Amino acid sequence: MTDPIFSWIEAERRRQEEGLELIASENYASPAVLRALGSVLNNKYAEGLPGRRYYGGCEYVDEVERIAQERLKLLFGAEWVNVQPHSGAQANAAVLLALLRPGERLLSFELAHGGHLTHGSPLNSSGKLYTVEHYGVRADTYLLDYDQIREKARAFRPKVLMAGASSYPRDWDWKTLRSIADEVGAFLVADIAHPAGLIAAKLLNDPLPHCHVVTSTTHKTLRGPRGGVILMGRDFDNPFGEKTPKGQLKKMSAILDSALFPGIQGGPHMHTIAAKAVAFGEALQPEFRRYSRQVIRNAQVLAQALMERGYTVLTGGTDNHIVLVDLRNKGITGRDAERGLEKAGITVNKNLIPYDPQPPLIASGIRLGTPALTTRGFTEAEFRQVAAWIDTALTHLSDDEKLAKIRNEIREFLRGYPLPYASEPVPVPGEASA
Ligand SMILES: Cc1ncc(COP(=O)(O)O)c(C=O)c1O
Repeated sequence: MTDPIFSWIEAERRRQEEGLELIASENYASPAVLRALGSVLNNKYAEGLPGRRYYGGCEYVDEVERIAQERLKLLFGAEWVNVQPHSGAQANAAVLLALLRPGERLLSFELAHGGHLTHGSPLNSSGKLYTVEHYGVRADTYLLDYDQIREKARAFRPKVLMAGASSYPRDWDWKTLRSIADEVGAFLVADIAHPAGLIAAKLLNDPLPHCHVVTSTTHKTLRGPRGGVILMGRDFDNPFGEKTPKGQLKKMSAILDSALFPGIQGGPHMHTIAAKAVAFGEALQPEFRRYSRQVIRNAQVLAQALMERGYTVLTGGTDNHIVLVDLRNKGITGRDAERGLEKAGITVNKNLIPYDPQPPLIASGIRLGTPALTTRGFTEAEFRQVAAWIDTALTHLSDDEKLAKIRNEIREFLRGYPLPYASEPVPVPGEASA
């Protein structure tokens, strides 16, 4: 244990314990999830799928992957799943590779309005390989405009219509999106990386019955290990002219499986797949539904409390775990807010607001999320206090003493909400060893 890496891990564990974690894409995975991640399954190569591997010695990891698949199917009512994507980005890349040939058309949510890089940004392989057009939110309401999506789809004739976001605080109308996709003969793909846990808990509209393919991460609201998944629901249509629904599903799943491996990945990370299985098992418990309900309630209380303090919350609230704050009326940029809040022990990320006059590295807003602190046991009362701390910090951005005072207050407060992670038996860097 002399490797300084363990000291840095301890420093990070402490940072996670002592600060208010409001990054919407983060959460605290359970000790059971972390145990599976740190297991001997890391050592195993298992290219292929359960029962059809390119390596020997896979009998136990086959069981692990089968359990992960079955639990995920149960969680979302899916007909077919692949639990191997190393991340959400890989899940999306594989699905696009499966459904599009280079140069074919993809219509997706604008990155600057809350979409994701992997949905066709010129900086991502999706933007380099495919011909991309975006839809966005309305300038007056910051809400998706399904009529505009339909018009764009009619004019652009995409082969894939992609939905889903990194920062959109409202629910999606999958049924309408499917009617648009059907009208233009497109595949409908939903990326539910952010709200997956809330969808699994049946608190948001369910994309599975309406979308041809669904992708997700497993580490945000779903509270598992970092990773991705691909799913198909009951309605997978008949794009390949197969005679039976079973034949269609088989054809489509074979195309998706091989787009992932060997299309873009090598050996699956069996330790992560085990950790996914653990997280899916946790998400199947009634307690996860209670947790997810609280995630949404907390976000709504946070939005309300900030509005009462004069902040502009985009769309006037939230349906999910995300609160987007436009800071322009406060004369603060997203970058300055992020920096100041960090000094106060509050971790958020600066965020472009739709039609933002600022570049992404400055941005006019911040994105707040409730999944992590809800895992620590925060309810409405604690989130009213969070809003008060945010407001005090943002009104004293150049007062380092005040920010340090808030930081201490938060650290003391959080002693009542401990994380269930054992500390590393090493001194953290910069502190004298005991
Ligand atoms: C909507 C969406 N899709 C995909 C991803 C990519 O996931 P990962 O970081 O696991 O590659 C993210 C991550 O933020 C996301 O928000």
